[in-house]
Amino acid sequence: VTVRGVRVGDPGLPELRRRESARWRAYPVDVLPSFVAEMDWELAPPIAAALVEAVARGDTGYAWPTALPVEVAAFAAREWDWQVDPRHVVVLGDIINGITVALRALTGPEDPVVVTPPVYAPFFTTVRDLAERPLVEVPLVGDDGRLVPDLDGLERAFSAGSRTLLLCHPHNPSGVVLTRAELADLAGLCAAYDVLVLSDEVHAPMSHPGTSFVPFPVVAGPSVRSVVLTSASKSWNVPGLKCAFLIAGTPDVARTLQALPHETFAGTGIFGVVAARAAFAEGDPWRQAAVARMATNARLLGDLLAEHLPAVCYRPPDAGYLAWLDCRGLGLGDDPAAAFLQRGRVALSRGPTFGAGGSGFARMTIATSADLLEEAVRRMARASG
Ligand SMILES: Cc1ncc(COP(=O)(O)O)c(C=O)c1O
Repeated sequence: VTVRGVRVGDPGLPELRRRESARWRAYPVDVLPSFVAEMDWELAPPIAAALVEAVARGDTGYAWPTALPVEVAAFAAREWDWQVDPRHVVVLGDIINGITVALRALTGPEDPVVVTPPVYAPFFTTVRDLAERPLVEVPLVGDDGRLVPDLDGLERAFSAGSRTLLLCHPHNPSGVVLTRAELADLAGLCAAYDVLVLSDEVHAPMSHPGTSFVPFPVVAGPSVRSVVLTSASKSWNVPGLKCAFLIAGTPDVARTLQALPHETFAGTGIFGVVAARAAFAEGDPWRQAAVARMATNARLLGDLLAEHLPAVCYRPPDAGYLAWLDCRGLGLGDDPAAAFLQRGRVALSRGPTFGAGGSGFARMTIATSADLLEEAVRRMARASG
């Protein structure tokens, strides 16, 4: 497919099945994978070229990402009008490691961390098992599928002693992007209780046309201690190459992160650095074309569901390529993905793993061809019939 002159190519199924990534290895070959957040599309040509060049020069040593913080800051300024001091950018291997490092550095062992389910399932294990912090759940609210933070619930958690909030914005799994006014209310509450905010904004560069994303620190300013987690890995589909960023929203947070031992960041992959530099320098036309395809597929999915599975409710994402499907009308129980897999041989992410509010839901990945998207919906329909 070509969008505004930029090719976002669809490899055929045989080629996809040769991939070594989780999406294509986790299930037997008769299962169509529509789960993990990986794109099926061909790699952006400038990134592919940069990686080929790196291999050709034998550039497989340790990562030493000195230029990258400047490029991340330039991207933040271009993309979100967010003026980042490059010295406030810390490079590491991935977002999950970033959350773990930030929680361990910025909170104490007894400090509860507030998480807002349903949410990206690894948040639970990251807080509890990797960072080893107590976890407090304040479920999101909103019954038209537009899930937003519950300010009253958050205030109760903060009054009871929680001083850390792990935000997922844009939201995985629903794809909701909050408005500036909603973020301002949230920031006001966090300021009142001196709450540290970790904002996972990894899907932000994939905000669909017509959606305007605002980074948390841009709204909160110095009134809330904050750190943003982001990377090129979701937006350009290079998560296996291991390069992500912590961007401190306030100078005190930056000082704490800068003082961490160098070994904390040893998980950074040199191919991840090469890919991120190419993405920021030359990858924008491809990203914009890919995001346009995401928005097209989000609409196509709505049409396919209306045709084959009208009992499924779905609000198209404001950002990214994940679709959160309310399958409660299908009568498939708490975990519809189990039935889709068993009877339809299509693998979606299981709703209950996203925590409270996930029961009866399944999450689908839609960065694929129109043909495979239709095939996935047909398989789901077969399982429901
Ligand atoms: C919200 C969110 N955070 C983090 C990640 C994982 O990022 P990483 O592989 O860099 O840890 C994902 C992946 O899908 C995600 O959706």
